[in-house]
Amino acid sequence: MAGETKQVTCYLLFSLATAVIGSLQFGYNTGVINAPEQKLRMFFNQTWMERYGVPIDPGVCTIVWSVAVAVFSVGGMVGSFCVGVIANKFGRRKSMFLVNILALLGGGLMGLCTLLNSFEMIIVGRLIIGLFCGLFTGLTPMYVGEVSPTPLRGAFGTLHQLGVVVGILIAQILGLEFLLGSEKLWPLLLALTGIPAVLQCLLLPFCPESPRYLLINLNKEEQAREG
Ligand SMILES: *[C@@H]1O[C@H](CO)[C@@H](O)[C@H](O)[C@H]1NC(C)=O
Repeated sequence: MAGETKQVTCYLLFSLATAVIGSLQFGYNTGVINAPEQKLRMFFNQTWMERYGVPIDPGVCTIVWSVAVAVFSVGGMVGSFCVGVIANKFGRRKSMFLVNILALLGGGLMGLCTLLNSFEMIIVGRLIIGLFCGLFTGLTPMYVGEVSPTPLRGAFGTLHQLGVVVGILIAQILGLEFLLGSEKLWPLLLALTGIPAVLQCLLLPFCPESPRYLLINLNKEEQAREG
């Protein structure tokens, strides 16, 4: 196969970097919920007060908080089950493009929750973001593996993990009280996931479709060789 003689080109690195934004997103959303816990609990309490006129029961507050954290994993499980179907139906590149809509949706819901006084929006937003992250934990390694030349496949395979831990680090830093972890800015911290999503959507049209997908799923051998 022509792929085995290929060098590391700027174009390859650009494509990998674009795909790894998905790993950053997964890491970011895993880490981001830890820092603003107290602010979120206060927000649940305030919303409860406004709606029902009484402070939230500490037990109920903990339940709401736990659900908001846990639905991420539920979404993640569902998302990772769907990766294969989506990646084969739409192609790797278009799938990543489409899945980013979930980040905008989930990020938007979480970012607007204080404006609309709704803690349900945090829970639904986290569910959608979980789905998004579950999909990207499959899509990124798949794409990275398929566009990399065979001898470098293993080395580039580590990029996903690297992206995840860097994402967590970014979330921890931005979550600091004096950055975006403050009482006013935490919704922005949760909504920030929309920015890399838009960036990735802007870059994806310049990346190649996975040769494996072109060859095996679409039977376009010529295009696959060029890629
Ligand atoms: C909710 O707010 C009230 C009044 O501000 C406070 O007394 C109460 O401890 C808070 N409850 C929780 C669970 O944070």
